Amino acid sequence: MKNTEKRKCDDFFDKIEKLGLALSYNDVRLKTGYSQILPANAKLQAKFSRNVGFLNIPIVSAPMDTVTEADMAIALAKIGGLGIIHKGLSPQNQASAVEKVKHNLSAFIYEPICINPNQTVAEVLAFIERKNYRFLSFPVLNNSGKLMGTVVKSNFEFCLDNSAKISDIMLKEIISAEAGTTVEQAYKIMMQKRVKILPILDKNKKFKGIYTLSDVRRIVKGHSPDYNISSDGTLKAGAAIGVGEDTRQRMELLAKAKVDVVVIDTAHGDSKAVIEAVKFCKKTYPKIDVVAGNVSEAESAKRLAEAGADGVKVGQGPGSICTTRIIAGVGCPQVTAVYNCAKALRGYGVPVCADGGIEYSGDITIALSAGADCVMLGKLLAGTTESPGEIIYRHDKKQVKVYRGMGSLGAMIDNKASRERYGQAESAENKLVPEGIESEVDYKGDVSFIIYQLLGGLRSGMGYCGAETISELQKKADFYRLTPSGVKESHPHGLEQIKKSPNY
Ligand code: IMP
Repeated sequence: MKNTEKRKCDDFFDKIEKLGLALSYNDVRLKTGYSQILPANAKLQAKFSRNVGFLNIPIVSAPMDTVTEADMAIALAKIGGLGIIHKGLSPQNQASAVEKVKHNLSAFIYEPICINPNQTVAEVLAFIERKNYRFLSFPVLNNSGKLMGTVVKSNFEFCLDNSAKISDIMLKEIISAEAGTTVEQAYKIMMQKRVKILPILDKNKKFKGIYTLSDVRRIVKGHSPDYNISSDGTLKAGAAIGVGEDTRQRMELLAKAKVDVVVIDTAHGDSKAVIEAVKFCKKTYPKIDVVAGNVSEAESAKRLAEAGADGVKVGQGPGSICTTRIIAGVGCPQVTAVYNCAKALRGYGVPVCADGGIEYSGDITIALSAGADCVMLGKLLAGTTESPGEIIYRHDKKQVKVYRGMGSLGAMIDNKASRERYGQAESAENKLVPEGIESEVDYKGDVSFIIYQLLGGLRSGMGYCGAETISELQKKADFYRLTPSGVKESHPHGLEQIKKSPNY
């Protein structure tokens, strides 16, 4: 399948290629043009993978152990993006993180966490703590799966003796509705009957799932236009997998947790193992989208698409914490890599994600203009409230969080998955050859603040280019190649004591 539609920037990249050059973000800027687009009116819907539907913003978080676990994935999905939970977690913990995202907001929960009437309150509270659940509403099912009652937060709050059984504190009057009840109907019933969860039973009174008031209300009241939501009403979530021996188990658990998309996260996606993993996933789990990577050459991107990948991740060496280009001496500068891969995939319907090296919001505009459908961010999202890890209070009074490469020595020592990402079997420290570094980044507050600034910059860029949508940007964009003085001129210059700005 080939799409011959020419884009405005094709001539620019052809000329660069003829010179034998490849460009990175700092080498280029976009041409401005006639515009009727106000930044606020720019439409940011984007695709990460073929079937998962549009993200509301073109931002995906990197599957790194200092960037994405459940909290980041929840926060990002609520802003309209997507979080990819890293594979440094055990398969079980990674699947629980996906479940946590899925349970955070769902109009209808098909397989809710249920408790047993014979459990004690203490046992259930310990279970909630262990699983890190943030909700306290549960249906109570007996050993044969029959609904016996419900418990909500107030039942726990008014319980004086934690050795009491759940059957002693639960609401025994069962207020339920039939399968097929819509969100609006559920909301009406819950408001009339003043219940916080509404169990749904089929014709044979078999328990099918629950509606929860907070989620139903949010949807009915229309408070969630930005949320990135799956067809079952849950927040969308992604997870990384590798090509190692636990891949099958990981996929099985992730599928059970209802993951929307998996990312085969390797340092070299153009390899037999990755292509086989794509084929395995698509054959065994046809309903789960598979994004594969990373690659940086046109032929590699095509090979992944032809193997069945639903998205291709581009970037070998641009990451802020990455030393691959220096240690291994390989990798195409990112703007050219994105352009070449995206051009090779025109007409395939397979989105391209530009992964790594995004330093400023303007780089996002450039990545999308070069043909990417969305970007993946590591450093820019690290150091936020939602990224994993504690805030460290340094002696110079700075608040920082750790940000490290998944191929850094520390990550490789800690995680088998990290060693596999870089094809290393040994786990002894002196036998590891890192391709990333460990660092600290300033604590930046909530991720929503960072994303607001990034999207503000992107909107502005789209306005300058006269593009209302990302696909229009891809068609209209054209580039200048900068000289060193152009780069110097682009940044603030000739000034001292530059005040901190929220986006620079
Ligand atoms: P950043 O946004 O520039 O910080 O780049 C993040 C990206 O770097 C991730 O999404 C990965 O593709 C890549 N990456 C993560 N860890 C490493 C590493 O240790 N070495 C090389 N690349 C890495």
